[in-house]
Amino acid sequence: LKGQYPHFMLKEIHEQPEAIADTIWSLATLDPPALYFDDLGPAADRLADIERVVLIGMGTSLHAAMVGQRYIEAFAGIPADADNASEFRYREPVLDDRTLVISVSQSGETVDVLEAMAVARQAGALQVTVCNTAGAQTTRVADGTVYTRAGLERGVASTKCFTTAVVALYLLALRIAQAKGRLSDRELALHLHDLAQLPRAVSEVLRQQDLVRKRAVSLAAAQHVLFLGRGLAFPVAMEGALKLKEVSYIHAEGYAAGEMKHGPIALIEPSFPTVAIATRHALRTKMISNIEQIQARGGPVTGVVTEGDAELTALCDAVLTVPAVSSWLEPVAAVIPLQLLAYDVAVHRGCDVDQPRNLAKTVTVE
Ligand code: F6R
Repeated sequence: LKGQYPHFMLKEIHEQPEAIADTIWSLATLDPPALYFDDLGPAADRLADIERVVLIGMGTSLHAAMVGQRYIEAFAGIPADADNASEFRYREPVLDDRTLVISVSQSGETVDVLEAMAVARQAGALQVTVCNTAGAQTTRVADGTVYTRAGLERGVASTKCFTTAVVALYLLALRIAQAKGRLSDRELALHLHDLAQLPRAVSEVLRQQDLVRKRAVSLAAAQHVLFLGRGLAFPVAMEGALKLKEVSYIHAEGYAAGEMKHGPIALIEPSFPTVAIATRHALRTKMISNIEQIQARGGPVTGVVTEGDAELTALCDAVLTVPAVSSWLEPVAAVIPLQLLAYDVAVHRGCDVDQPRNLAKTVTVE
């Protein structure tokens, strides 16, 4: 079942180019440029009336939702928030029939997501779920579904379901923009053209596994690792930290880089490495100043940078590179080296990668 791969996690990391392509082309065509959302059901006609979007999810799916939030604000021009479903369900969220609640759940069975959806339903919100499992519970509760086409994910650490959820949310944000009359045919064509390049870019990152492995050997001895990002790279930093902690048991934190001076910088010392996501569009110059501040305190920095970025390559203590992709797709490219890094660190430390201690693939109890 794992074929040539020693672990499902590695196999699933390598399945991403195909999973991403399958997800994109199940929801869109390039020629003619068009979006097809066959499972939106009654939600399709109501998208034009939506005034606000709330995205909910847990863990990795929440991180995908945080990327989706930024897409919806930028493309559809309506307020969007991403919230942890376990918090959302116990607040008194203000929702109405002009609010669209988008739940993101690979399994479609996560209890906190389902309970949050029940709260949303009670308030009369329109609901769409982004799900990887046909017929799962979230798809039964929601008014409409956007399926990701990642195929079965067996590794407890989610990888291909993150990247496919991000591209599904990208396309859904375009669909909402279209319903709101904010997307021209030309703009749609440009977005689809960018998306069409993505599987090849991801394949390119995957070819760097040997380089990542070298970085992994040096990080494997760390007790703590900080992941920093800004803008679209902030959720990627959160996801990089989550991947590392769950499979390698190294304490890792994902932070918005702008928060550094508000506390975390106190931790920096030579034995505390940082991974900084500083690709072309990820507020790169701001990240450069964060990196310099960390280095001034003796902290070693591994940068995730765009290929050919000589300045950052010279500045960082080590770099992992990703090919240039459109600004909106940088989160997908940048997360791949972090997935590989978490995997390699865990293998180096002798951890059970596919079945980390204390974790279940689907969390159906609180
Ligand atoms: C992390 C991971 C978990 C899940 C979370 C939500 O690698 O797998 O954080 O993302 O339990 O699960 P779903 O997406 O099934 O709702």
